[in-house]
Amino acid sequence: MDSFLIRGGVPLRGTVEISGSKNAALPIMAATLLTSEPCVIHRLPDLSDTRFMVQILQSLGASATLEKGTLRVQARRIKGYADYELVRKMRGSICIAGPLLGRLKRARISLPGGCIIGARPINLHLKGFAALGAAIRIEGGYVEATARKIKGASVFLGGRAGPTVLGTANVMMAAALGEGITVIESAACEPEVMDLAVFLNSMGARIEGAGSPTITIHGVRQLHGAEHEVIPDRIETATFAIAAAATSGDITLRGARAEHLRAVLDKLQEANVAVDRNGSELRVRRRGRLKPVDVTTLPYSGFPTDVQAQMMALLALAPGISIITERIFESRFMHVSELARLGAEIEIEGPSAIVKGGKKLSGAPVMASDLRASAALVIAGLAASGVTQVNRIYHLDRGYEQMDRKLRDLGARIQRVEES
Ligand code: EPU
Repeated sequence: MDSFLIRGGVPLRGTVEISGSKNAALPIMAATLLTSEPCVIHRLPDLSDTRFMVQILQSLGASATLEKGTLRVQARRIKGYADYELVRKMRGSICIAGPLLGRLKRARISLPGGCIIGARPINLHLKGFAALGAAIRIEGGYVEATARKIKGASVFLGGRAGPTVLGTANVMMAAALGEGITVIESAACEPEVMDLAVFLNSMGARIEGAGSPTITIHGVRQLHGAEHEVIPDRIETATFAIAAAATSGDITLRGARAEHLRAVLDKLQEANVAVDRNGSELRVRRRGRLKPVDVTTLPYSGFPTDVQAQMMALLALAPGISIITERIFESRFMHVSELARLGAEIEIEGPSAIVKGGKKLSGAPVMASDLRASAALVIAGLAASGVTQVNRIYHLDRGYEQMDRKLRDLGARIQRVEES
């Protein structure tokens, strides 16, 4: 398993190009299954998760190639069945259920199960499918949704922790080829949901209100091929911005969308980090001493759970007490004990982490547990003195395009150590 060797203490400087969004790309890739015509998707990040989604599309019968950030897909004839071996590797693959149900009126998919950050149920996805007229059966670890036809309906998708991102995407995709009008209440407002709606509408769907809590879908009989460019990755943008702040650096993020990052940029400014926007460029630099801040993760437009771990690494450097409360995923604190190995002082109290910041971090071997926790460890390693070895970086490769190369271009001393 590959690892990163980081010699910390170098302030990041220069310009970094932001890649297309992983979490926008995955459902958009799934949406190409809704038509038999060719689709072309640009700015598709080259990640192990998107490559894996290419394999899933192929296994369902589509032709799909990903080259230099452009994906070409044609799903002339597809089957409605995805087996355990495919789905278990990537929880996000659940977003093929909506398109399969919409197009074939039948989807049989292995239940994805939980993951390190939480239980990750799909009850809300299934509630949505049932409201559209599908019969749901769970048997032998598989969920099967079948419908004679998809009928427009009103469906409330709010759950224990608020709306569901991929649940909203799934219901939107199934209803796009339904009969009549579907209204999703308490829909997820994330920019990735909006990007999916833009793509679906360019395929001929009639979707209004995406980006707000009420989405209206007027079902159409058929969708056609379309071309689309994926939005920039707001989580990658936030990760690099935080890395610049943590290293007392000064970097420019090119091709970013500041309007998707208001909550993060606001907290960075509160922590004494300067953020200047110039069109699609964002300049981020440390003003002086970091200040502690309190952060609570919330559905969009609140502070994203996908940036909680990285923010914790930064706040470990801010003298004083910061309280970070995680409201979306119950066990998303796996990075706490690894950050402690680098010298951070953090205590967990229920859904909150109390960060006693300002301790000097020093390099050590650490273990990555999930994608964003890994990014937090890289940030801490960049800020620490000495050498940090981040093991199991296959997690990072799932969601960050060439993170080591991009950091090196900003002056970081980071090396990938390949192990056979
Ligand atoms: N939930 C339910 N029932 C459901 C679905 C979700 O109770 O049927 C709960 C979850 O347990 C959680 C909350 O609702 O407490 C939100 O989960 P959501 O469904 O929104 O998560 P997701 O759609 O499965 C996407 C991203 C995650 C990101 C979350 C939250 C993709 C591929 N994944 O997951 O991204 O953390 O939204 O913003 O889009 C990552 O990129 O590192 C990542 C984990």
